Amino acid sequence: MNPVDLSFLFFPGGSLGEFNLPREFSTVLSHGKGSKLYDVSGKEFIDYSLSWGSVILGHAHPAVTKAVKKQVERGSSFSYVNEPVLELAQELVKAIPCAEKIRFAASGTEATFYAIRFSKAYTGRPRVLKFEGAYHGAHDVGIMSLFPQKLLPFPAPEPTSAGTSKRIQEEVLIAPYNDLKTTQKIIDQYGEEIACVIMEPLQRCTPPVKGFLEGIRKKTKEKGILLVFDEVVTGFRLAYGGAQEYYGVIPDIAAFGKAMGGGYPIGAICGRADILDLCTESNLGKERYVWFASTLAGNPVSAAASLATLKELRKQGTYQRLHGIGERLRNGFITLLKELGISGQVLGDGPLCQVLFTEKPVVDYRAAFRADREKARQFALGLFKNGIFLNPMGTKLYLSLAHSSQDIKKLLDVSRKELKKLFG
Ligand SMILES: Cc1ncc(COP(=O)(O)O)c(C=O)c1O
Repeated sequence: MNPVDLSFLFFPGGSLGEFNLPREFSTVLSHGKGSKLYDVSGKEFIDYSLSWGSVILGHAHPAVTKAVKKQVERGSSFSYVNEPVLELAQELVKAIPCAEKIRFAASGTEATFYAIRFSKAYTGRPRVLKFEGAYHGAHDVGIMSLFPQKLLPFPAPEPTSAGTSKRIQEEVLIAPYNDLKTTQKIIDQYGEEIACVIMEPLQRCTPPVKGFLEGIRKKTKEKGILLVFDEVVTGFRLAYGGAQEYYGVIPDIAAFGKAMGGGYPIGAICGRADILDLCTESNLGKERYVWFASTLAGNPVSAAASLATLKELRKQGTYQRLHGIGERLRNGFITLLKELGISGQVLGDGPLCQVLFTEKPVVDYRAAFRADREKARQFALGLFKNGIFLNPMGTKLYLSLAHSSQDIKKLLDVSRKELKKLFG
């Protein structure tokens, strides 16, 4: 049986999760190097997915590979404090403005899950406010109103998955991203019950409007609500200190993952010591004790990969380069849409980019929802066919330090061809 048939035999939809290519486009990857991926038939792709943004230095970066190989020889998992993870913790506290203490996790989902649990335990309150269209991992809160279809009045949530808890649904309040007034109103109404506001500071690919993050920070402080930044995407990507450094707004707790691990499984919850200390095991049995455990968290191989990745990211000029290539790509798309007379919006910041086919500026989920999503999918599939590896859901394009000017040019050239076909 060929590899694609085999993958459809064993994996629902022939997919590992939320990367749903039609069968005729599906493939099986063999390896990756730099900005490229190769499938088992030898076809080369330029990778704009980057393992959902994890591989920020590019695939198989020599410094990361060397560090991992060295650590693997010394043991892969101890579930106990070890040299590499202690060194990593020190680096994170130095880098991340809100970080006084840290607990490691194995994924972004785990990190945000714990951030929410810490918030509920610390405040003794049951509710969580999240923004419509934001993703905070696969747990029940993380997927409330992730891709809502009914567009219910705020703050009513719509679960994006079956099998979620009705109780959790009742605890979640949904607000429109970038709409400070409506969010403040919801907070005024439910303030005493809200444990935390959890948010992607840059939501998906939509930047915060001026004053939005500052306004949320002020309001949450006023009401004794914890502010949680989900920096799983923005961490070490917009700036070395994440979105909190980039936008200058400091949360109480932040969750990290993806780029921090350089392609190896990792997650971290960091923040104020008085909050994080609630999980100290000697508190077991006390009212605010937080249970925290994760078998593979803090494993020395991921920590070694992370240390090597962060060392590369600390080099002079890294973030100018990441922002530079992102800007080049976004400007390229803006020019292209204008040249072809297509109504579209180009979103993103730093090494992130998304193209939406709509006349109206996109500042929140509802504006993105009203864009022509069918055209976006056709466009993404057209690119895929031409050797551009990306998520056909048409979410974001990720750029790494390994992407070259030629990679950007190729993407724009293929885009011109496909857009002409689609809109011609
Ligand atoms: C903003 C954000 N938070 C959390 C997660 C979950 O991270 P993971 O897939 O590592 O569990 C993701 C994943 O895409 C994400 O984009």
